[in-house]
Amino acid sequence: MYGKANPFSLPHCRQNLMSMPLQTVFDFHNEAPRDSRTSVLPIDESFPEEAANELAALESYNKHLYRPNTYLHKWWARRSGTTFRHILKQLVHEPGKRDFYEPGGLEGKIIFDPMMGGGTTLHEAIRMGANVAGIDIDPIPVLQAKASLSISTLRHKQVLFSQFLDTLRHELSSLYETACPSCRKKGETQFVLYALRRRCSCGEVLFLDDLLLRQNNGHPVNICHKCRGVFTGKEHECRDGSATPLMVKGTKQCERCHERFSDILDDRFSQRYVPLVIAGTCQKHGTFFKRVAKSDLEFLDRARGLAEEIDFTALQDFRVSEGPKSGDLLRRGIGTYPELFTPRQLLYLDASQRFLRQVSDRDRLWITLLVSTSLEFNSLLCGYKGRDIRRPGAIRHVFSHHAYSFPYTALENNPLFQKKTSGTLNRIFNDRVARAAEWALKPVETRIVGERRTKVPIVGEIDGGESVPDWQSLMNGKRKFFVAQGDSAYLNIPENIVDYVVTDPPYFDSVQYSDLSNFFRVWLRLFLPNEADWCYDVLGSAVSEGDVSGGRKYGDVLSRIWKVCFKALKRKTGRLVFTFHHWRHGAWAELTISLKRARFFLVNRYVVFSENPISVHILGLKSLKHDAILVLKPHTADKAGRQWPKPGVINSTDSHTFCRDCGTAIGWFLDSDFTEEEIRQEWKKLLGGDGSGKASG
Ligand SMILES: C[S@@+](CC[C@H](N)C(=O)[O-])C[C@H]1O[C@@H](n2cnc3c(N)ncnc32)[C@H](O)[C@@H]1O
Ligand SMILES: [Zn+2]
Ligand SMILES: [Zn+2]
Ligand SMILES: [Zn+2]
Repeated sequence: MYGKANPFSLPHCRQNLMSMPLQTVFDFHNEAPRDSRTSVLPIDESFPEEAANELAALESYNKHLYRPNTYLHKWWARRSGTTFRHILKQLVHEPGKRDFYEPGGLEGKIIFDPMMGGGTTLHEAIRMGANVAGIDIDPIPVLQAKASLSISTLRHKQVLFSQFLDTLRHELSSLYETACPSCRKKGETQFVLYALRRRCSCGEVLFLDDLLLRQNNGHPVNICHKCRGVFTGKEHECRDGSATPLMVKGTKQCERCHERFSDILDDRFSQRYVPLVIAGTCQKHGTFFKRVAKSDLEFLDRARGLAEEIDFTALQDFRVSEGPKSGDLLRRGIGTYPELFTPRQLLYLDASQRFLRQVSDRDRLWITLLVSTSLEFNSLLCGYKGRDIRRPGAIRHVFSHHAYSFPYTALENNPLFQKKTSGTLNRIFNDRVARAAEWALKPVETRIVGERRTKVPIVGEIDGGESVPDWQSLMNGKRKFFVAQGDSAYLNIPENIVDYVVTDPPYFDSVQYSDLSNFFRVWLRLFLPNEADWCYDVLGSAVSEGDVSGGRKYGDVLSRIWKVCFKALKRKTGRLVFTFHHWRHGAWAELTISLKRARFFLVNRYVVFSENPISVHILGLKSLKHDAILVLKPHTADKAGRQWPKPGVINSTDSHTFCRDCGTAIGWFLDSDFTEEEIRQEWKKLLGGDGSGKASG
């Protein structure tokens, strides 16, 4: 756990419910706010919507390239860093530092994100000189922030990474040897393609997504469905047609028995796949595709024998438990997480674990995150999307669909491959550690002038700082960060300490982050047993995880979190700023109720392009492409704010107006005396739709 004390009033680990102290661990005495003037901030009156949209559009395709230091580990629903930099710049007092391309401006301020996720707010704010605090219920964002906000020398990391790779290669690279099909000399496997076993009454068949393996500039590489031979061009001499028939995706039933093909669920997951094709490199002949040969199968058998010696499940609980997305694994007869990996992948995990036992705590953290995030490209759930000439060897990673999907053509990548191809440790280290470290010391923004884009170094900013163990330590200095894992609804936070809360709450029924991240969490827990609370209650406390209460739980948890923010904020000058979009009246109603319970009122609302548009069909609106940015103030006795007009029926034919009007409606509801039930009814009237909260049309 981070810090010596438990900063939560209710422990988030059920097993510890009785054993942990419930009293607050902080000794703050309701101090008066440091700055009690009622002041107007730029964000109260304006927001550069157009400039923010332009940069977010550029950033959205490849966010990790624009902010590499925020992307050490996989996390979902990340927000655009430039949008959040724009938000934070509108909170800067000093006019000379308010420009997007000027360094700093938040020195002496405390910025808090109670649902920090990928850590966008924290990274952006610390760059601008603020002291920052971030909480997340899930350990992954916390571990990631801890590692990516800590400054350390790249040289040291490079040396250690080379040692790590050398150790792994020494142990494992012989298992990835393969003979070049042209010269028979020793080559290196880049990846192996597997076919899925299925069956009908006649027996077993094998399924692939496609027989075309690669469109090679007029020399396509194919696999023969009869003999499984791999050939380039059109000419192919079939050698043997007696192998198990090879089918392609879309073939529903057997031509002979007319039975529909069914999946084989009684074998172990990794045994449901058969290796067919190897892509590798030869020093002389470059990249090749070849049929898996007998000698390759011998290597795979050797790996299987070695992997049988390791029993991860004896070390800790690796069972898959029921969850909104994990249920898909259980329904497929996958009972434990190690089953999702091939023997070589398990050997890679085992060798990594042994290496990591010997390094310092600090280094173990970032290398573990690297190994964990590499699993997204190194599991048997990876698909193949390298068919297209523009995507050499591209791996369809495990969560490309934000859910578990089970490929026909599965791809086993070689994480130790010498080149920096997708999913290799070399590539991941380069992108997420080396480039990240350079960027952190010299952050760069893009300026768009007409058709031109120029890189603007933000001299003086650093994306990182010093870790501190408690809130109190945030009161002085700059670029300090306090991150902790837990349920923000039960956070013990000193009063009147935070200048601005800038966050991005989960959107009602959005991605089930915590449930999906079990895929990584079981391994992180094995490698870092003491660094987090691994037994927290995902479904009980997360704002949005498989909610069956019709949104009431969403509103309840969120209102508790907003109350914590209300308490923490400097009463007169504090602001709560967050982004939100949803098409259901139920989502807006529960959000409104949560804010009203916590006594916030709306200062202003803006609209920016959303990086995560959702397709909907309400009235004329096809998709929701925007986010509302809501700016709120804690209610004080001398509330003298803007009065929001009563909205008419909200125009839902245009995504921009929709978000803007929903923002305005929140302002009106927060000013009103409606009961919670009335708020639900009024939202329903405003947005239309049936009582279930589902939009009509
Ligand atoms: C939409 S994400 C934030 C994304 C982030 N702004 C970014 O750009 O990466 C919301 C986060 O809220 C966290 N969360 C949900 N319920 C929580 C709770 N009760 N306490 C703390 N964090 C919670 C989730 O784990 C998730 O990481
Ligand atoms: Zn060769
Ligand atoms: Zn059949
Ligand atoms: Zn053939």
